[in-house]
Amino acid sequence: MDVHRYNAKKNECELPMSHSLTSFFKPKTIAVVGASKNSIKIGHAALKNLLISDYDCTIYPINPKEQQILGLKCHKKLSDIKRHIDLVLISVPAPIVPEILRECVQKKVDNVIIISSGFSEIGNHELEEELRQIIDHAPIRVLGPNTMGYKNASDNLDASFVFGVPRKGNLALISQSGALGIGMIYLANNEYVGVSKIIGVGNKLDIDDDDLIDYFATDPATKVIGLYIEAVKDGRAFMNSIKACHKPVLVVKAGRSSAGARATASHTGSMAGSDTIYSAAIKQAGGIRCRDIVELFDMARALAGQPPAQGNRIGIITNGGGLGILLTDACEANGLHVPPLSKTTYKKIDKVLPDIVNPNNPVDLVADAGFYRYEASTRAMLEDPNIDGVIVASVHGGYARPQEFTGAILKMIRERKLHEEYKKPILATWVGGKEFEDMVFDLKSAGVPIYPSSWRTARAMLGLYLEGKRIQREEKQEQA
Ligand code: ACO
Repeated sequence: MDVHRYNAKKNECELPMSHSLTSFFKPKTIAVVGASKNSIKIGHAALKNLLISDYDCTIYPINPKEQQILGLKCHKKLSDIKRHIDLVLISVPAPIVPEILRECVQKKVDNVIIISSGFSEIGNHELEEELRQIIDHAPIRVLGPNTMGYKNASDNLDASFVFGVPRKGNLALISQSGALGIGMIYLANNEYVGVSKIIGVGNKLDIDDDDLIDYFATDPATKVIGLYIEAVKDGRAFMNSIKACHKPVLVVKAGRSSAGARATASHTGSMAGSDTIYSAAIKQAGGIRCRDIVELFDMARALAGQPPAQGNRIGIITNGGGLGILLTDACEANGLHVPPLSKTTYKKIDKVLPDIVNPNNPVDLVADAGFYRYEASTRAMLEDPNIDGVIVASVHGGYARPQEFTGAILKMIRERKLHEEYKKPILATWVGGKEFEDMVFDLKSAGVPIYPSSWRTARAMLGLYLEGKRIQREEKQEQA
């Protein structure tokens, strides 16, 4: 964010008050400059997305040549509209953008999304600087240039030009890469991860990651915030926003390697910076650094649907000894601990196991384990004060039906609502084939995170543990 704008975190203010992003995400009047009748043009797609949104607002297409587009009266220029405009989407070639942005400032438009490319991302820094000077000291917020816009799924508003309807949920996604942002919509749908908002920040001329974290921190529809970043423009503001946010912030930072940093420079024209410093800073601020997008979704799914872990002691239940060991290794490698069972828990689980095995952690329920063994041992783990989170695993061994495994987990999730001491995260993992797909669907759609890999399961549990630690730190600070 530029210093001419109010920034509470930096205590720098030249404007009388901060410009909230409320009218940016919930505009009542929207104009599309560069709206077109031509269905292959981006200005057509952007207008159509607004039109098909189930959202109450007035939409104004702007095009000097047209009378009407998609059934709406068309204006020749912004100043022809008498009403105040909350949001303008600009989809005209880059050289015309400064002229349009000047009109927006003159008309006292609140917010602008510059879809157009052709600025700093291709080395055209001068043109981007011109935009910066136009908005300098003006009470206007600008997203982009070079952005897809946003999809506000929680309010049914699509202010982007791209296809894809995200499943509704509580993950807010911020992406510096437009294409990856679009891919994430489909990935989220596939993974049954619901989204509150998804936004492409483009070249971050004005609206930056820190502004969005601040907004999502207070957005009731958002529970978890996820970012894909290549570079941060204002490191201090970014870290302060994460620190001030009372919600989990997951960060995928690309450009870890020197070759990756080179690719970053040619993708968005930004400098990747020292990876070690990024890692340390994100951690210090209380954010969680994810290795890639899939890990971000894995953790988001866990954080959105499960309570945080109050500690790092994990109980593992499996019907396949090998999978139990892999899970144990993955937990320990990620700073989680798989402790031996307490006497009480040992006795409870021993009662339901066949005589050929003794309970341990990981608990091997043996290949033919059905509903009862899973249910009783999961309950025993939840009741154990020395266990902070439970992983329930199933290998399709060809004996018990997978429904028994999922049925037991779903029952324990239901019971968890009734018992205060059961408020621990439950994650599931599985090894099998097509015959497991329905069961995976049942769990995912009930908000129970299930992963096809012991490593991914352990990393998701790590996310829950780190979130538990973050909350505890916050509580301590509040008490101090
Ligand atoms: N006011 C209003 N409308 C105007 C004006 C004006 N001053 N001047 C021109 N127009 C109209 C044009 O007449 C045209 O309408 P028409 O189809 O009726 O003739 C319309 O605006 C668009 O102008 P064109 O010159 O046809 O430009 P085009 O639509 O081909 O391209 C665009 C514009 C899409 C902004 C292009 O320059 C561009 O930047 N494309 C890339 C966008 C992008 O990918 N952004 C990053 C997204 S992130 C990601 O990767 C997904």
